[in-house]
Amino acid sequence: MPNKSTVAFTSQRRRVVGALAGSAALAAMATTAATLAAGLGALSARPARAAPGGLTIRFSHVVAEDTPKGLAAERFRALVEQRSGGRIQVVVYPDGRLYGDHDEMQALQLGAVDMLDPSLSKFGRIGFPEFELFDLPYLFPDVASVRRITQGALGQSMLARLTRQRLVGLGFMDNGFKHMSANRPLLEPAHFEGLRMRIQASRVIAAQMRALGARPVTLAFSETRRALAAGVVDGTENPVSNFWTQGMHTVQTDLSLTQHAYLGYAFVANQRFWESMAAPDRALVSEALREALYFGNQIADTQNDKALAALREAGGTRIHVPAPAQITRMRKAVEPVHTGLARRIGTAWLDDARKAMEG
Ligand code: LMR
Repeated sequence: MPNKSTVAFTSQRRRVVGALAGSAALAAMATTAATLAAGLGALSARPARAAPGGLTIRFSHVVAEDTPKGLAAERFRALVEQRSGGRIQVVVYPDGRLYGDHDEMQALQLGAVDMLDPSLSKFGRIGFPEFELFDLPYLFPDVASVRRITQGALGQSMLARLTRQRLVGLGFMDNGFKHMSANRPLLEPAHFEGLRMRIQASRVIAAQMRALGARPVTLAFSETRRALAAGVVDGTENPVSNFWTQGMHTVQTDLSLTQHAYLGYAFVANQRFWESMAAPDRALVSEALREALYFGNQIADTQNDKALAALREAGGTRIHVPAPAQITRMRKAVEPVHTGLARRIGTAWLDDARKAMEG
């Protein structure tokens, strides 16, 4: 749950980047560049590069520290600092305190931050719509099937393409499967009728919500709990670890364990920053990241299980499990979302993904 200092810090940052919200695309781009430069200036009290021979890596993410992603980032920080004897520092900014969903990608491209680990859903709007295949509802039976894509040739080629936007794709990490929440059970399409559902900026997720009869509302992750509390939106979707650590259970009475779609991340770096590192440092950082990702993938399930147990213990949230017939109705309703994405990105991506999944 956000504490007071988080809220203060977040609103301070929001003032810096606030001009972004709701502006037209071009104006927003110009404002973004200006505000990011301002943000960079504000940060320059702490040098971007540490003492002579040293290096500081600025790493930003939008979730709580006690989530699979937050813990993997922390593991990365600890490994880098330990193995470099403190010569390479990693400063992790969790919870969207530095940059949030609206501005983190541009901050990375501009070099205002060195590394991020956004959800795969967030790559579509920067020119990589094929990443939205990971958002498709009911495509993946389990995380192992996703891994056959992310850890195989297809996943590696997706990461390699990111250089087109001056990003270096470093690796994938799972969170797990998403569930639906609202102030009512959401177990089949009829239950979604007329609801405003907060989503990430993904055309696939928007299409999914529309196919279920809801109205998708794109909002930054850090704004979701407040928007739910204020009734700006009625419900949302996320893995349980995000639901619990954001305190969404305090503003939603019902969690439906629909497990309808996957949520994962790609760790990315600013290309100029990455290439500016001396080869031995880059090797050290790469190895630390490889181990942190492995660790993150190991704990994703248990963090979600722990969050579900904590939620049950806290009481107050009704937890529902859909019946097989309800899952069938959900799957049927969202079928057009698959064909819609295939039309947009071409069938080859989906064929390759299916082939990879089958091993
Ligand atoms: C969301 O915006 O719902 C998630 O992508 C947040 C995250 O990064 O886990």
